[in-house]
Amino acid sequence: MDITAIHQPVLLEDCVRLVTSAAGRPGAIIVDCTLGLAGHATAFLHNAPEATLIGIDRDEEALGLATRRMKDGGFEGRFIPVHAAFDEFADVLAERHIDKVDAVFMDLGLSSLQIDETERGFSYSHDAPLDMRMDVTQTRTAETILNEYPVERLRRIFREYGEERFSGPIAKAVVEARDRGGLHTSAQLNELVDRVVPKSHRPAGNPAKRVFQALRIEVNGELDKLASTLPQAALHLAVGGRLVVESYHSLEDKTVKRFMANGLKIDAPADMPVVPPDARPFFGDITHGAIKADEGEIASNPRSASVRLRGIELVRPIPERWAERYARQQHEGYAEPTDANGRRDARHTSRTRRGRR
Ligand SMILES: C[S@@+](CC[C@H](N)C(=O)[O-])C[C@H]1O[C@@H](n2cnc3c(N)ncnc32)[C@H](O)[C@@H]1O
Repeated sequence: MDITAIHQPVLLEDCVRLVTSAAGRPGAIIVDCTLGLAGHATAFLHNAPEATLIGIDRDEEALGLATRRMKDGGFEGRFIPVHAAFDEFADVLAERHIDKVDAVFMDLGLSSLQIDETERGFSYSHDAPLDMRMDVTQTRTAETILNEYPVERLRRIFREYGEERFSGPIAKAVVEARDRGGLHTSAQLNELVDRVVPKSHRPAGNPAKRVFQALRIEVNGELDKLASTLPQAALHLAVGGRLVVESYHSLEDKTVKRFMANGLKIDAPADMPVVPPDARPFFGDITHGAIKADEGEIASNPRSASVRLRGIELVRPIPERWAERYARQQHEGYAEPTDANGRRDARHTSRTRRGRR
């Protein structure tokens, strides 16, 4: 099998430029939190010949293939594979007695390998058991969620993570299906959504697309893990170090944007005549907002159509109050949306990492 042909890395040149310009010194450390098939990671090591890369992935199969690719590329001696979820970031470094790193990279979501493996149930276009786990050693699957979660929780997941207009009727139909033996295959879920969503209100493509996306995010705790990893990464950046993230879903991008914005602005009232040194921004914006794929890349790699690439550089040590806040945030999950007045939406219940279901 040609590993290099399975997954096409998105915005590769931009990612290499952004990551490797912080990793030129001898002994530099790059952490790729989403190693996948090491498309980005091998390019980082090629362009940063003095650096070592720690490659984290929760998918053991991807990790095995990436390790083989690193070996084939002659990068074996500068590569450390780690089977973990990326929200174990601080532990992964602590176990290796590493405090600061030069670059942290995240390319969120699924690799083409995972999408193409029909038996893992990620794809709505193939009939397969409702699994959707990136890490097959975890117990929660799409099937357990559909057959066990209360109706209100299902509705919220479909609405929030899938932005599904018919989240209420779909959640109700899922719960009703339990009386008839429950849902076990993607074909059954497709058929249910097809029945519930009126033909006149369907978005382009498969009507169940949004429900599948929402389930995948919930099965893998994707937003919780992202929200608790970003502060860990920032706390472990050396000054001059960079955090570079590629998101493919609007909620992921909002989470990244909001996190980065904290360090990019002056942390003092607007009418203060002189900005105290401690209130100066501690992040520098290295992508000037979000970088998107151009038409050429989208045509050759449709997965790149929704990408938003954002990056920051740590320009001075993180001020104490922010470091304390980040230390707390690394134990919290994804913060639910607020209402129009900035208040937490009372319909949502609070979730912390420790209390996560
Ligand atoms: C889009 S792919 C990365 C592709 C990679 N950049 C390449 O060029 O080959 C995302 C990878 O991140 C992994 N992943 C997603 N969420 C993760 C998490 N919370 N912890 C660790 N790995 C995760 C997935 O298993 C998948 O292999």
